[in-house]
Amino acid sequence: MASLKFDRSRAVPMRGDGQGQPASKTGRLVIVSNRVADLSKGNLAGGLAVAVGEALKSSGGLWFGWSGARSAEAHSKGPNIQTFGNVSTATVDLTEKEFEDYYLGFSNRCLWPLFHYRLDLAELHTTGQATYFEVNKRFAAEVAPLIQTDDTIWVHDYHLIPFAAHLRQKQVTNRIGFFLHIPFPAPELFSALPHHRDFAKTFFAYDLVGFQTVRDRENFARYAEEYLNCRRLNDGRLRGFGRTLRIEAFPIGIDAESFAAEAEKNARAPELRALAREVESERLIVGVDRLDYSKGLPERVRAMGSLLEKWPNYIGKVQLLQIAPPTREGVQAYDEIRSELERITGEVNGRYGDFVWSPVRYVNRPVPRAMLAGLFRRSRVGLVTPLRDGMNLVAKEYVAAQDPADPGVLVLSQFAGAAEQMEEALMVNPHDPAETATAIRRALEMPLGERRARHKALWNQIVSESVGWWRERFLAVLHETNGQPATPGGPSTRNALRSEAVPHEQSSDPTAR
Ligand code: ADP
Ligand code: F6P
Repeated sequence: MASLKFDRSRAVPMRGDGQGQPASKTGRLVIVSNRVADLSKGNLAGGLAVAVGEALKSSGGLWFGWSGARSAEAHSKGPNIQTFGNVSTATVDLTEKEFEDYYLGFSNRCLWPLFHYRLDLAELHTTGQATYFEVNKRFAAEVAPLIQTDDTIWVHDYHLIPFAAHLRQKQVTNRIGFFLHIPFPAPELFSALPHHRDFAKTFFAYDLVGFQTVRDRENFARYAEEYLNCRRLNDGRLRGFGRTLRIEAFPIGIDAESFAAEAEKNARAPELRALAREVESERLIVGVDRLDYSKGLPERVRAMGSLLEKWPNYIGKVQLLQIAPPTREGVQAYDEIRSELERITGEVNGRYGDFVWSPVRYVNRPVPRAMLAGLFRRSRVGLVTPLRDGMNLVAKEYVAAQDPADPGVLVLSQFAGAAEQMEEALMVNPHDPAETATAIRRALEMPLGERRARHKALWNQIVSESVGWWRERFLAVLHETNGQPATPGGPSTRNALRSEAVPHEQSSDPTAR
């Protein structure tokens, strides 16, 4: 089995310059993702939006996906096309049923927990699976007429895994790559998904499948070998279903320099000055996450309790500022994590707080990105302790925001994808509040020399493995895959996909296969 560390020496040479210049001059880039950024806004926020927005600007192209709206006429309207310079967006609405079954249902009640190792929360028998395939099929049908022969197509994330299989049925033979932003679980977990083989073989309609980490890539490879009878070639590719699939780890990054500039500019924002009057920067611990059960928020608050119990000298002095806006409301597991976080926060604040101070300050709403950057810079400790995370961009943003002369310390979960690259963080097992508490204390007390040395190493890492590097590597590798030759003596690509890669329309009915 391959090593589970991200190996920089295997990094594929870039064709572009890693600074956002095009990897290839041939053809447009077509991005397909569930959410599409609003390009009318000058500054794009969020990892995916920034990453693909820049790629599109450099090669020109099209961004297709859900408009974010629900409407009864979703199927009759056709894509809403808007053009911004050399980039167009084409967005379609979802019906209420599609929103419920494709987005909240199969994507977020089943795949999200399953891929984050939460079999206990995964609603495996959700009826949403059929709608999930139908939405993928409809999206493929809506985008197919917009595709030109020399376009390169790049599909993103777990909402759209079977997208290419449906597109191939529309006779689209372009290069198609897929990037999974979330973890790919251990094969034993993935195989708990009903009809997992039909689902997984749709990956083989792509030319390249990218994962965040080597561990995710190897989980997928082991699954393909053990459950799909695929063969691993010497160069790491997988043979199966009449196709050869390239799989690689491409850890996503950030634009560290621009985030650093934003942080420096906003560290003295008036809102943050008010906060600084209450808690000294050297005593401020920050956490920023969507309110998702994968982020380990109750465990984090428990670690604060453990810190104060073991080292009472911190009572009245330190504070965790946890920003956690609601997400995917309407999914029961999200309602439950919110209640649990509020209960445990009340408990820790009740036990250790007084009239003028509380150990945990919890903000349940989004905060402007500029303000987040300034807040990161003013916090001595960045607490990033997910129970499982594809990458976790907050870990990288926290490092980018620090003042190199007096930097804060990143405490990072060993279960974040970022842990494969960010070895100089203080690594913790988030399931163990005592271990996290010890790391917080170490971070609070760390001498300046050690803080600077750790920060320097982490900064160099996030600058060299930036979002531009991620995008260029993915596209360079995708361009190396020269479409899919039909297997010698085997079925043609098109036929192989038609007969095998697309599950039956009634995909939740096993008898239909
Ligand atoms: P995920 O994709 O699971 O939400 P990441 O950490 O990879 O997790 O990315 C989250 C992105 O959203 C980061 O760029 C982060 O700065 C941003 N973000 C997270 N919480 C907030 C918030 N409260 N307000 C604004 N942006 C946020
Ligand atoms: O990073 C995983 C991801 O699902 C992204 O694809 C998505 O944009 C983000 O989390 C937020 O989730 P949602 O789109 O469900 O609000």
